[in-house]
Amino acid sequence: MTTTTTPGARVALVTGAGGGIGAATAARLYGLGHRVALLDVDGEAVNALRDRLDPGGDGALALRADVDDPDAVHGALREVRAVWHSPDVLVNNAARTAPGSVWDVGLAEWDAVLATNLRSVLTLTRLCAPAMRERGWGRVVNLASLAGQQGGTLAGPHYSAAKAGVLVLTKIFARELAAHGVTVNAVAPAAVHTPAVARLGPAAVAAARSVPVGRMGRAAEVAALVAYLVGEDGGYVTGATFDINGGSHMR
Ligand SMILES: NC(=O)c1ccc[n+]([C@@H]2O[C@H](COP(=O)([O-])OP(=O)(O)OC[C@H]3O[C@@H](n4cnc5c(N)ncnc54)[C@H](O)[C@@H]3O)[C@@H](O)[C@H]2O)c1
Repeated sequence: MTTTTTPGARVALVTGAGGGIGAATAARLYGLGHRVALLDVDGEAVNALRDRLDPGGDGALALRADVDDPDAVHGALREVRAVWHSPDVLVNNAARTAPGSVWDVGLAEWDAVLATNLRSVLTLTRLCAPAMRERGWGRVVNLASLAGQQGGTLAGPHYSAAKAGVLVLTKIFARELAAHGVTVNAVAPAAVHTPAVARLGPAAVAAARSVPVGRMGRAAEVAALVAYLVGEDGGYVTGATFDINGGSHMR
């Protein structure tokens, strides 16, 4: 499965690439000829994905880093630049669920979830976008959530609040970068079959039964949408939110 990448191949950085939607997205982009930087706090998971996608090749790079830690993220980005160049494509996908009630979630936990799910979008985009802007071409896709649109709390009130913030930050960066060939969009999934949803337990599975399409989504389906947005054809789409939720939220 080794792919020899062309020198001009785009470099895509995917956070949270160790599993679920992030891994599916990285695999999809790799299959389309991107060089993929796989960033995750779970180093073993990204090493395994690199070995699966590109054993011994130079088309995939595994990076163990915590997106909460700006220094670690900066270090990972230095590595990407040393091996290839600053990413042309950034997929801000890393996030964590943290079930709990809005009445009793601890403030430290609130801040920690906001750091992972929202602040990381700020730090990663600020680090990657300047080179995209200079090049006059770039793509940023942020994984939001139906919970951030509707205020669902199954994954935690801080999770939902962070995802609402991701939607707004997407628009802010989209405006900043639109004139420079850089698009910034959000993808808002719900009930996609991944380890995160499995961890939420029977309530999440039961909620998925009421989805109009009648099944859970597949990570590969979300990856295909991200692939469209980061491709050449996505150049006129920016500041948008794409729902991918089996019809759970129609507007
Ligand atoms: N699965 C769904 O139904 C669903 C629904 C709505 C939104 N989303 C969003 O899609 C994205 C992917 O979700 P998923 O279901 O694949 O999640 P997942 O938990 O299956 O995978 C998330 C990955 O992110 C990594 N990660 C978590 N915290 C990190 C950190 N601090 N630094 C670096 N990596 C970190 C994890 O190790 C894991 O590999 C998330 O942004 C999530 O909020 C998913």
